[in-house]
Amino acid sequence: MSLKADFTQDFVRDQWYAAAWSTELGDRPLARHILGERVVFFRQPDGVIGALEDRCPHRMAPLSMGECADGGIRCGYHGMVFDASGSCIGIPGQDIIPPTARTRAYPAVEKYGLVWIWTGSADADKTKFPVIPGYGEEGWALLDGGYQLHEGNYRIEVENLMDPAHTTFLHKETIGNKNQKDIPVQVAQTDRGLSAYRWIENVPPSPLDRKSRDFGEGKVDRRVAFNFELPATSFVDVAVVPAGTERTEERLMNAGIRTFSYKFLTPETHRTTHFFWLHLRNYMQNDEGFEAGLRASLEKTFSEDRDMVAAIQLEQEATGLRQRTSLAIDRAPLMALRMIDRMVAAQSAALEEAVS
Ligand SMILES: [Fe+2]
Repeated sequence: MSLKADFTQDFVRDQWYAAAWSTELGDRPLARHILGERVVFFRQPDGVIGALEDRCPHRMAPLSMGECADGGIRCGYHGMVFDASGSCIGIPGQDIIPPTARTRAYPAVEKYGLVWIWTGSADADKTKFPVIPGYGEEGWALLDGGYQLHEGNYRIEVENLMDPAHTTFLHKETIGNKNQKDIPVQVAQTDRGLSAYRWIENVPPSPLDRKSRDFGEGKVDRRVAFNFELPATSFVDVAVVPAGTERTEERLMNAGIRTFSYKFLTPETHRTTHFFWLHLRNYMQNDEGFEAGLRASLEKTFSEDRDMVAAIQLEQEATGLRQRTSLAIDRAPLMALRMIDRMVAAQSAALEEAVS
């Protein structure tokens, strides 16, 4: 059994991808590779976000070398100005704007504090945004602004994030928990992807559980779910409730404590991935000391993954192999990758049909 590493597979294109935090768009254009394409982001004076191909149609100068000016983005070479629709709205020294003076505009929307772009050729579909429970609601505390650049193909990231078994070893100083390692992971399909989860039943609450909520003298049930939503969103959903609590979504939301840890994986290139993260919790909302420690711990955990992913990318490139043996714990990662494969196959079939 041997699986080849493939870093040429097309990306899933008819999707929204997180491209930047809204706070990154200030007075200056922002250049970023998204799905291997050069994109420039900017904010117009009216607040509208532009996401354009980062090339001026005149001499291919990167628009990101220009500036935010004259109501749009102004090329740093000859001063042509483009608005968020990609249309040229001004050319120094001439009144007539040729119809070819335009650049590709990507649909761009701000949501969850992030700038998202639609990378496909189909109409942008607003129902495809992730739906984040608790976001913006009372009683929930948000940690956001998280970003790391990971030097690995996003499929290696998906494998990592759908694999609870690695936490015991790679994250032994942060989230690893020796008591979890023998509890089998269950896998279920969800509306938008997959969930790999396990219940750790009837255990004493951890010191953090006790600090976060009064569980009295009783024990707790803890559900840790590693979730994947196509094509590239991951979230870890942890619920801690009094032992024996009915396992409905309503009870898991209200009977104890709950955490959602989201990662939005946006391919930068075939071998690198933008890793945006945000974290929601319904406990210790107003404790700044706790929050600073939580942020540091999350960043350390994600750095441990970043270093492992980068090392694996290099070895897979060197050998041309993805793996030479398979384990029981591969089930959820493999299912997630197959879901991606099916989406990419459907996309290329649709493209072929369109041109034939
Ligand atoms: Fe990890």
